[in-house]
Amino acid sequence: MTLKNKKILIIIGGGIAAYKSLDLIRMLKRNDVEIKTILTKSGREFVTPLSLTTLTQSKTFENIFDKDSEADIDHIALSRWADIIIVMPTTANLMSKLSVGAAEDLATTVLLAANKDILLVPAMNVRMWLHKATQKNFNILKDIGYLFIGPEKGEMACGEFGEGKMSSPRQILAYVKDYFNKRGILKNKNFKALVTTGPTREYLDPVRYISNESSGRQGYEVAIALDKLGIKTTVIAGPSNFNLPKSIKLKKIISADEMLSEVKKSLPVDLAVCVAAVADFKLEKKNKNKMKKSNLSFQSMNFIKNTDILEYLSKNNKCRPRVVAGFSAETESLNKNSIQKIKNKHCDFIFANDVSNKKIGFNSYYNKISVIYKNGSVQIIPKNKKSLIANKIAQILVDKLVDDRNIN
Ligand SMILES: Cc1cc2nc3c(=O)[nH]c(=O)nc-3n(C[C@H](O)[C@H](O)[C@H](O)COP(=O)(O)O)c2cc1C
Repeated sequence: MTLKNKKILIIIGGGIAAYKSLDLIRMLKRNDVEIKTILTKSGREFVTPLSLTTLTQSKTFENIFDKDSEADIDHIALSRWADIIIVMPTTANLMSKLSVGAAEDLATTVLLAANKDILLVPAMNVRMWLHKATQKNFNILKDIGYLFIGPEKGEMACGEFGEGKMSSPRQILAYVKDYFNKRGILKNKNFKALVTTGPTREYLDPVRYISNESSGRQGYEVAIALDKLGIKTTVIAGPSNFNLPKSIKLKKIISADEMLSEVKKSLPVDLAVCVAAVADFKLEKKNKNKMKKSNLSFQSMNFIKNTDILEYLSKNNKCRPRVVAGFSAETESLNKNSIQKIKNKHCDFIFANDVSNKKIGFNSYYNKISVIYKNGSVQIIPKNKKSLIANKIAQILVDKLVDDRNIN
């Protein structure tokens, strides 16, 4: 994968590491990348517009109220032009402004108006980095969805040692190559995914049913994350109510049988993610009419097991998706039960969530996930919004898809 003709907007903040942006620009130029730059007022104290313009062969943008710049390319168009935006160095001050959504100069206005991924490359003194305020801003920015590389541990320009050193231009170049590599591969390969989500309902009679607390949010977010990575995604959803972008196909179902039938119709796919909380049992024969209270007796109802959709997909020799992942909802022994589940079901990943904790899991905006790998190893995705958890899950799944195809 080459970076040829990629467009990168580099915003240079007011830190001592700003000079390293010149090195990165030279490296990117050698890779035939088109570059535009924005220099903050403080950034100008560390590198000159002349150096930037000479290296990029493009005007350096500085002032939001510059009529010539606005005529050339306006502050909205700058982010629309770019494939990715890199802020290097990202100073403590820039982090603070971004965390509150300030738009007080050209750099912050472009960043707030951006519709592209933004890679922040922090660089600052170790005390500045570890300061509670900066750490709070760091968490807010991660939560909003900014990408980060670094900072690294090392000796700083001020002579102190610790975390706060900017990642090197070489590391940033490797990150950027990897970023485009994954997207490029996905774009060309026309990968298809199916995601099941929401609860299912197993009707006992026309008005009563067995179901569960699942809202479907996590599955919708996984589908959106896969779609953003360029994967053609179909969602098969039980009763739930969320919006999806038009690019995602949505099939609504009620029962586990209907979900299974839609899953079968959606095959073949490259990736299947079973997020749905499918009811385990159904009534062997649903009552045609509403059961009378006087006749209601659970002893007389014969329940049978629904087909396990995750297991069906994992063991489907004819048409097994290359990667199959399932969710497990547990109220106790989360990892132990989930490790057992991955063995029984023969899927590639289990994403386990603790549904006994009301602050995460079912019906919550948040989740915390144990990623269970086939070899029994466990990786924790810390508590975060379901949308951000979904981005991490999508990345893990896509890495597996790409690795299995031996694409480098
Ligand atoms: C010599 C010098 C070096 C500085 N280095 C850094 C730095 O590495 N990181 C940082 O966050 N701030 C650093 N600062 C402080 C910033 O320049 C200052 O907070 C400025 O307002 C940041 O501007 P910006 O928001 O345009 O980046 C430095 C200041 C001076 C005078």
